[in-house]
Amino acid sequence: MDDVVSLCARRGFIWQSSEIYGGINGFWDYGPLGVELKNNLKALWWRRVVREREDVEGLDSSIIAHPRTWEASGHVEHFSDPLVDCRACKKRMRADQLDDAGPCPARQGSSEHDWTPARHFNLMLKTFVGAQEDQAATAFLRAETCQSIFLDFKRVRESARQRIPFGIAQIGKAFRNEINPRNFTFRSREFEQGELEFFVHPGERERWFAHWLEQRLAFHRELGFGDDVLRVRPHRPDELAHYAKAAADLEFLFPFGWQEIEGVHDRGEWDLARHSEFSGKDLSVTDEETKERYRPMVIETSVGIDRTCLALLCNGYAEEALEDGETRIVLRLPPALAPVQAAVLPLSKKLAEPARALAATLRRRLAVFYDEAGNIGRRYRRQDEVGTPFCVTYDFDSEADGKVTVRERDSMAQERVPVEGLLSHLRDRLEGGL
Ligand code: GAP
Repeated sequence: MDDVVSLCARRGFIWQSSEIYGGINGFWDYGPLGVELKNNLKALWWRRVVREREDVEGLDSSIIAHPRTWEASGHVEHFSDPLVDCRACKKRMRADQLDDAGPCPARQGSSEHDWTPARHFNLMLKTFVGAQEDQAATAFLRAETCQSIFLDFKRVRESARQRIPFGIAQIGKAFRNEINPRNFTFRSREFEQGELEFFVHPGERERWFAHWLEQRLAFHRELGFGDDVLRVRPHRPDELAHYAKAAADLEFLFPFGWQEIEGVHDRGEWDLARHSEFSGKDLSVTDEETKERYRPMVIETSVGIDRTCLALLCNGYAEEALEDGETRIVLRLPPALAPVQAAVLPLSKKLAEPARALAATLRRRLAVFYDEAGNIGRRYRRQDEVGTPFCVTYDFDSEADGKVTVRERDSMAQERVPVEGLLSHLRDRLEGGL
């Protein structure tokens, strides 16, 4: 894990927010390469969940919703963790994670902490809307992106002329005042979710739950997660929320153990029923054929974008011993998600002009990095380390034969490819490689 964290900071993927002020716990900045990786992942999710389906519509709702939203959803009352403090050293922990507390630095003769009884700590972050800072102006930063999907259910269904079954999806920031943010970006206070709420007839919930679980599993397999690092963990009956009929976590094997990266839940009619009750608006539908009036049930898929980025980085990171005795660090990201898709490297600075022109042509359709500094071996290594699937070397023969050398990241195999047709050659291999 330390190697991944260090690579992320060194090469501009992810580092702690507000570093120059000493950092702020639980908040992270995605640098030049990190933002590309994250955007590529979000674009792939959007394509698979929204664009490629007739039965899913997209949404981008506000982060702050009407405060009643969070009363209806149950967050104001129930969204809390048990919190304890050590009376001696003032350390604050979640009561269910005391094994991670370590010894108490303030108690001589005993390394045991002196914990207070557990009390509930609400995880929602608060703010004020408008000029007044009082109870009436209090609003919450959303703790999950899905609640606005329920608020907008009727509007989306009518404007998009959708019929049940159909879904609404969005990607966006969520905020939780986690007591102990940890494991790099895994548990953060500000993070992104990709959520789909799929509305179905009550008689069809099992079928759609199975469908979405399978779809989401296929998505993670597409990211290159094999059975050795990806598993489905169905919730035990005692873990299920009272309104839920079924739930499963998709778990990834991080260096710190198996952990959830996505949840697939049958939320029943809980959300629409509660928002109907609190808003006084009818959120049921009429089946046009049978004239049956009913409240749809909801199947939810909720993926952590940051956790999936972290899984991609952990899964891709490798240190490889080479034949010449050297070690190379290589980040085996799925080619289509790589922040840099092709690096253009002139063999000598004398070839900078045609190599730059080639980079400019490729850049119209690909994420391209141009690098002329250092020996070619070192330049290859720099690209391996950030997961660039192809290095394109422009050498002294290129001018004469109109060809360049394309080196592939994982196999390190090299082939001569005509400059004409290079773009489609690379694009084919990038798409085929995902
Ligand atoms: N709407 C359902 C919901 O929010 P959740 O299991 O609380 O369910 C869904 O969150 C996903 O969001 C998780 O599987 C995880 O990937 C991500 N997530 C939740 N809390 C997180 C945190 N503190 N930091 C980073 N990602 C988090």
